[in-house]
Amino acid sequence: MTDATTAQATPAEGSLLTTKDVTVTYDLTHEALHGTSLTFEKGQVTALIGPSGCGKSTFLRCLNLMNREIPKCSIGGEILYHGRDINTPKENLFELRKSIGMVFQQPTPFRKSIRENILFAPKKHGRVRTKAEEDELVETSLRQAALWDEVKDKLKQSAHALSGGQQQRLCIARTLAMKPDVVLFDEPCSALDPISTFAIEETIRDIASTGICEIIVTHNMEQATRVSDRTAFFYVGDMVETGTTQQIFRNPRDQRLIDYLTGRFG
Ligand SMILES: Nc1ncnc2c1ncn2[C@@H]1O[C@H](COP(=O)(O)OP(=O)(O)OP(=O)(O)O)[C@@H](O)[C@H]1O
Ligand SMILES: [Mg+2]
Repeated sequence: MTDATTAQATPAEGSLLTTKDVTVTYDLTHEALHGTSLTFEKGQVTALIGPSGCGKSTFLRCLNLMNREIPKCSIGGEILYHGRDINTPKENLFELRKSIGMVFQQPTPFRKSIRENILFAPKKHGRVRTKAEEDELVETSLRQAALWDEVKDKLKQSAHALSGGQQQRLCIARTLAMKPDVVLFDEPCSALDPISTFAIEETIRDIASTGICEIIVTHNMEQATRVSDRTAFFYVGDMVETGTTQQIFRNPRDQRLIDYLTGRFG
């Protein structure tokens, strides 16, 4: 364990989200994550980096208990959200995902209008009652995801008619409409062109400035340096080193991280 890892394993009092020695086992025998301890704070963007197959998505999916939906997958350790361990069988996933949202690699808008994409979950949870409340939520969510100006005149059109980059921003807006305090992103730009990528990166920074905690898996090292405050490096199921993004990129300590950053593998 490196010094940087140890420092992060001891969370500050009142941290938003902390994992303690989290393990994930697939198919009852394959331990894909060997005990990861990390802390995530309000308003902070953390990048998860590392070669393919090292457990980044596996770890990300622990944070909103999505791995629970994979048959024969078990999660060990503690996942403390507002100080409460959510890694228990009685955790209400429907409630949890109101507060911990997720954006995937491929944009996944519902086969509905732009407006209904935003309102779907808030309506289901009884968050909006009047047309005025709906209108306000649609506008603020789309503005937060920097999509309002492009779609304000076609809110009733199908979300599937939007470009890939716009669809991804709609998915972000849809997540924000539930007013989460954590948003997880798994390679959100890997299917997008550079201009759409830049728009999403700006959105990620803007969202952080509102106090939301964001965790983003990326293979793009420049993206990690542009959007994140902290970075954690994963290697074959271990979280090997973590620190500020500046420290990880300018002064990496672990040889595996140095090799990764210099392009020797991954
Ligand atoms: N649903 C699953 N069932 C069984 N094994 C899985 C499952 N998902 C991932 N794994 C295994 O867990 C390990 C970590 O995979 P994971 O998808 O977390 O890696 P990753 O770091 O996100 O990789 P990539 O950068 O390619 O997305 C791999 O060995 C993978 O084969
Ligand atoms: Mg992955």
